[in-house]
Amino acid sequence: MARRKIVAGNWKMNGSVESVVELVKGLEAYDTVDVIVAPTFVYLPIISETLKNSEIKLAAQTVSEFASGAYTGEVSLSMLKDFAVSHVILGHSERRSLFLETDAQVAEKVLMTLDAGLTPILCVGETLEQREAGTTLEVCNAQVNAVLEKVGVELFEKVVIAYEPVWAIGTGKSATSEQAQEVHKGIRNNIAEKSIEIAQSVAILYGGSVKASNSAELFAQPDIDGALVGGASLDAKEFNSIIESAK
Ligand code: G3P
Repeated sequence: MARRKIVAGNWKMNGSVESVVELVKGLEAYDTVDVIVAPTFVYLPIISETLKNSEIKLAAQTVSEFASGAYTGEVSLSMLKDFAVSHVILGHSERRSLFLETDAQVAEKVLMTLDAGLTPILCVGETLEQREAGTTLEVCNAQVNAVLEKVGVELFEKVVIAYEPVWAIGTGKSATSEQAQEVHKGIRNNIAEKSIEIAQSVAILYGGSVKASNSAELFAQPDIDGALVGGASLDAKEFNSIIESAK
């Protein structure tokens, strides 16, 4: 069965109440593409309300690894569920590098997210140094394997993977479609060592300077199942064009 395309917008720490509501109201949904938006925590309630009766889905940008209690500043999975959040971005390179999230924490969060019935969007990707050293696939598969070992391959069917080369994030310099396809295929082959069936069903998105001008070419690759978009998802016209190219 063909995998459905997914286009997700990671708004990161951007926007105001006014701008994000206007943005989400301007987005188009299509039957053949899953569209997801990920506002910062404080805007989840208003975006959740705005998206009532819409096909567009809501994601959080991370979640606490704790269920509840004395964890100042944290947000739990049950709180996300109160606002109809369906997806959680986990292991984004900004969380790994700026907030020192480890593979073990990411794996724990993926497992908790699955247990809560939400879909994790697991981000993996190499730095420029790692790419230049020829270790791209090794790095990405090690990040995937840390989670695979924790959750088991059966549950991986419910995980969305996002390959986001760190050097392509916010730089305007996307991986070429060939570079991205090579890594996506390598990630899928690695999962296939555990289960060919699950490897075929798992969605692998590309992220890193995706724009309307390069999305169609990326989406035409056999192992690229959509995109996790940063900067370009803050502009409704640009984001709609990306969504449209995934139809
Ligand atoms: O999670 C999406 C992201 O990191 C890519 O950002 O701005 O390069 O599209 P951007």
